[in-house]
Amino acid sequence: MGKDTFTITDNRTGKSYEVPLENETINALDLRQIKVDPEEFGTMTYDPGYGNTASCKSTITYIDGDKGILRYRGYPIEQLAEKSNFLEVAYLLIYGELPDKETGEQWEYKVNRHTYIHEDLRRMMHMFRYDAHPMGMLISALAVMSTLHKEAKDVEDPEVRNKQILRILGKLPTVAAFAYRHRIGRPVNYPNSDLSYTENFLYMLDYMGQHNYTVNPVLAKALDVLFILHADHEQNCSASVMRSIGSSNADPYSAMAGAAAALFGPRHGGANESVVRMLEEIGSADRVPEYVERVKRREFRLMGFGHRVYKSYDPRAKLIKKIAYDVFGVTGSNPLIDIALKLEEAALSDDFFIERNLYPNVDFYSGIIYQAMGFPTDMFTVIFALGRAPGWLAQWNEQVEDPEQRIARPRQVYLGPGERNYVPVEQR
Ligand code: ACO
Repeated sequence: MGKDTFTITDNRTGKSYEVPLENETINALDLRQIKVDPEEFGTMTYDPGYGNTASCKSTITYIDGDKGILRYRGYPIEQLAEKSNFLEVAYLLIYGELPDKETGEQWEYKVNRHTYIHEDLRRMMHMFRYDAHPMGMLISALAVMSTLHKEAKDVEDPEVRNKQILRILGKLPTVAAFAYRHRIGRPVNYPNSDLSYTENFLYMLDYMGQHNYTVNPVLAKALDVLFILHADHEQNCSASVMRSIGSSNADPYSAMAGAAAALFGPRHGGANESVVRMLEEIGSADRVPEYVERVKRREFRLMGFGHRVYKSYDPRAKLIKKIAYDVFGVTGSNPLIDIALKLEEAALSDDFFIERNLYPNVDFYSGIIYQAMGFPTDMFTVIFALGRAPGWLAQWNEQVEDPEQRIARPRQVYLGPGERNYVPVEQR
């Protein structure tokens, strides 16, 4: 067995450098010593989109993208989806272990005690236009929460951090439900702590004063599992933003407003919305081949397909596809599922997609389920954000506690002009 080092030879100078290798990783700063002239800055790595750069050490989520494996704190996602519930998974992600019975009950009780939002925030949410996108409302509400919970900026204090974790997990479904009720012009429902986390969310969305109102248990269970499947995905775009903003010691509400903004984009969590719009545009299963040809001509991308990390079937998409049929058992089928199945079949048997390892991702089937449950399209990414909240918090908490972490500050390769003199406007 050789040494855990690399020897790098600089062919410009003939000099060799021995660089340590730890966890199959070299420290990028070890390359800085490689230079021709001592006055030079030294060698850097160039990695747009961080395709091969580890920005942190983490013990939260493990993904093997080639084999389609996803584990939270070591537990396979399939087992958690079948046996656990969202709040328990949230605890696991944030604190590292599954809670025992008593700790789990206390945790649920504490999160449920933080579901009411400040009346000022409710009033502010009421000021949005009737057609404001609920993701815009959620992002803004998080920023407002930073102004209401001022002690949150004391991020070095673990007790203060824990308090904000409870507040964020407790209040986020309320904010999401209030955004929805505002959007459809109905009065808000205040949280009901007799209900489970996910039941309470559905209740706040739907309740209209009916006698004997109950939340459908199949739909509550399906949504709870969807939340689990979305709960963390290691260093994805929004989690990196959460960590990046958190690295400046900003409070978690501000950091999460940024993370939610990153999620909003159609190449990330906004894809679930785009998938449904795409399926509606295709309109019928017989038009799928024509659509696939247009994707291959690069007119647009197939939404809900492809992933930076998964080069095989996204394990979450497999589970979500199954949940779709549980939900359809209650709501009736969504005609878009036939188009989606046909699209998947067409793509998975086409060389363009096979060569590029493009498989359905988490967003491909989730939107169809949300639509069947009656959610308007622009609520889909909000639901993703509710599910992802514990992951963002776990990533943030881990980063704040990690002594190796520093403020996020990438380098650049400057290719612009050298120094030049200012030219007065009349001489340009
Ligand atoms: N449809 C068609 N072609 C695609 C797609 C797609 N959905 N995704 C990637 N490709 C092609 C690219 O054109 C490229 O082809 P080329 O090498 O011939 O130029 C190749 O596959 C690699 O694509 P990249 O953009 O380099 O892959 P990257 O890892 O940077 O992007 C991403 C990943 C953003 C998810 C991409 O696959 C995509 O845009 N998918 C559609 C949007 C989507 O579903 N996003 C949700 C992702 S899951 C999540 O964030 C929760």
